[in-house]
Amino acid sequence: MASTIYLLLFLSMIVGAQSVEFTFEGFNGREKNLTTHSASIIMSSGLLRLTNKTRNVVGQAFYYKPIQMLNTSSNSSPNASSFSTTFVFQIVSPKGKGGFGLAFTLAPSNQLPGAESGHYLGLFNSSNDGNILNNIFAVEFDTVNGLNDNADSEGNHVGININSMFSRSMEAAAYSETDHPNRFRDLMLDSGKPIQAWIEYDGATKLVNVTIGLVGKGRPSRPLITDSVDLSAVVRDNMYAGFSSSTGEKVSSHYILGWSFSTEGEAAPLLNYARLPEAPISEKTSSPFRPSVIAIVASLCGVAAILFAVLFFRAVYMKWPRFEALEDWELDCPHRFRYQDLHTATKGFINSEIIGVGGFGAVYRGRLPTNGNDVAVKKISTPNSSQGLRGFTAEIESLGRLRHKNLVNLQGWCKRNNDLLLVYDFIPNGSLADLLFNRRNNFVLSWEQRFNIVKGIAAGLLYLHEEWEKVVIHRDVKSSNVLIDAEMNGRLGDFGLARLYDHGTTSHTTKIVGTIGYLAPELTRTGQASTSSDVYAFGILLLEVACGRKPVETSDFILTDFVVESHQMGRLLDAADPKLNSAFVIKEMEVVLGLGLLCSHPNPKTRPTMREVIRYLNWEDKLPVIDDLGSSDSLSRSKRFMGAVSIEMITSSIDAGR
Ligand SMILES: *[C@@H]1O[C@H](CO)[C@@H](O)[C@H](O)[C@H]1NC(C)=O
Ligand SMILES: *[C@@H]1O[C@H](CO)[C@@H](O)[C@H](O)[C@H]1NC(C)=O
Ligand SMILES: *[C@@H]1O[C@H](CO)[C@@H](O)[C@H](O)[C@H]1NC(C)=O
Ligand SMILES: *[C@@H]1O[C@H](CO)[C@@H](O)[C@H](O)[C@H]1NC(C)=O
Ligand SMILES: *[C@@H]1O[C@H](CO)[C@@H](O)[C@H](O)[C@H]1NC(C)=O
Ligand SMILES: *[C@@H]1O[C@H](CO)[C@@H](O)[C@H](O)[C@H]1NC(C)=O
Repeated sequence: MASTIYLLLFLSMIVGAQSVEFTFEGFNGREKNLTTHSASIIMSSGLLRLTNKTRNVVGQAFYYKPIQMLNTSSNSSPNASSFSTTFVFQIVSPKGKGGFGLAFTLAPSNQLPGAESGHYLGLFNSSNDGNILNNIFAVEFDTVNGLNDNADSEGNHVGININSMFSRSMEAAAYSETDHPNRFRDLMLDSGKPIQAWIEYDGATKLVNVTIGLVGKGRPSRPLITDSVDLSAVVRDNMYAGFSSSTGEKVSSHYILGWSFSTEGEAAPLLNYARLPEAPISEKTSSPFRPSVIAIVASLCGVAAILFAVLFFRAVYMKWPRFEALEDWELDCPHRFRYQDLHTATKGFINSEIIGVGGFGAVYRGRLPTNGNDVAVKKISTPNSSQGLRGFTAEIESLGRLRHKNLVNLQGWCKRNNDLLLVYDFIPNGSLADLLFNRRNNFVLSWEQRFNIVKGIAAGLLYLHEEWEKVVIHRDVKSSNVLIDAEMNGRLGDFGLARLYDHGTTSHTTKIVGTIGYLAPELTRTGQASTSSDVYAFGILLLEVACGRKPVETSDFILTDFVVESHQMGRLLDAADPKLNSAFVIKEMEVVLGLGLLCSHPNPKTRPTMREVIRYLNWEDKLPVIDDLGSSDSLSRSKRFMGAVSIEMITSSIDAGR
């Protein structure tokens, strides 16, 4: 027995590792050189289609022969052989977002029975995910968030996986620019365009490089991922090289157009793009593409069509600034901005362009180089939770679709390393808090302006709560989050951010996000933000606007208590801002103060909804008599007070935790 092993070892030492090299430019007529499994087929056009648009399918295809992957030509322990491979793939998704991805893989068998679809990409299943006996090396090109949200949370990503769906290294899909190797441009894997990938492993330095780029743009000068990994402990002597892919509840067709592979330190043979078939983007016509006059004519037509599209979008951009900074391949994420443009706009994020510093980060003023529009760019640095924030592009995309004249609209976003950049409309007149409390040139907001502003903010908040497709809880309504536009209308900013920030943190406890003085008492007990806690904060805002005072000025001045006292003494109007010099409409002042008390009622059940608030402000309903606030009932007052105390305690501990 031992001698047989010795003999085998001896033989392999003489033979050395057998080198392998092959090239597929289309797969027509090469059916014998590939073993396909499950949904994967070779189409008459020569395309290898790993999956079709059926839900929850897997598809695999492997080179028909095993490849010797352990180099036993020296007498120390065997090393994994160097290899180099390149292939061109297309992921064609239905309108909207498609699903799941494909992986280049080295596997000990050309069949992976029991491997699951969806996140598992047809490579693993829930029982063997992570098992070192899998002996699987894979490079995944995934289009949706990974199995483990924190590990793989970038939807559109490339990752290196060993024996598990957990990526040991991962990057958002991007390619380096030819003339600026350190500048990476995002690439949507499921844009439907042919994308080329290069994967190289050097058995001596034990480095894996993964590079991707758009076909026709040349090989990017820098790899997207360079990872130091010793495959000697992963591969077996004989490995099958190929692809695996899956769909889940979301579906896409995954195609391989061409593939070459080589071991023994040789670069994978170059692919002749002209000989590759091309997958139909629309998927209706699946006519084969041949290297012929037809193809040339077709590609000329394609170029013309792209030119037209570019011209068309340019024309549209001039009228529609939020699309300004987009490349055509970025249309999948219509709200994504180019980092370069934001960098230019804010003069490289210099301090002199900072117009405000909020709880989440600094805000820069900028002028977009693309259209000259002024924007406000909020830079949120998340040194420890970038992973967590990564996955929320979908959420930001969704916030980007909110549009209301009383909201500071989110034009778009951009993610760069640990920075999340949010691009907002630039609002010229600063914040309501600034106008109310920091008097410049003795400017006093008139009552008419104030009443108009609170009505506007109520409309904006109603839109978030009830009129949009989803309920959006603002969670940080306050006067410093209300910006005043050129027509002196109030616009509510920072909506949805609190939630985003919450998600971004890795801790599993619910953090209370908000600001001292605006936190509803029940928030401090349950931590649950609701539309009603937004209404509470809106009530405080109403009182600020009417009284011209901050919610908490000193430890013994609490705005709500002050207004309640005035109310109890039957002198509600005494609470009005003295700076107004009594220049207000009494009925309006009364409704704003009364509504402020009702909205900031300690009992959430007593508070009105934003729809009711609007009816009161428009005189469509009469404000109910708020007797339990007006009475000298010490219980309700002490409740208020207790609320205020515990809020302070909680927020100071939150602040300490940040
Ligand atoms: C393809 O398969 C045929 C038959 O199995 C074999 O003779 C041929 O060498 C293979 N070609 C390549 C490039 O592997
Ligand atoms: C897709 O592939 C699955 C699995 O092979 C097959 O059952 C189904 O009929 C195919 N659907 C289409 C539309 O080709
Ligand atoms: C394996 O790699 C190490 C260092 O990378 C080298 O010292 C050793 O000689 C290699 N062994 C074989 C069998 O190539
Ligand atoms: C998981 O995959 C392994 C290997 O492919 C297979 O042996 C096993 O039966 C599968 N388990 C399940 C639960 O499907
Ligand atoms: C990987 O990329 C690095 C940096 O570009 C380069 O120095 C190295 O030679 C590459 N290694 C392989 C195996 O291609
Ligand atoms: C195996 O190792 C030897 C020397 O270490 C090297 O010359 C040869 O190219 C290697 N073979 C492969 C397939 O990597």
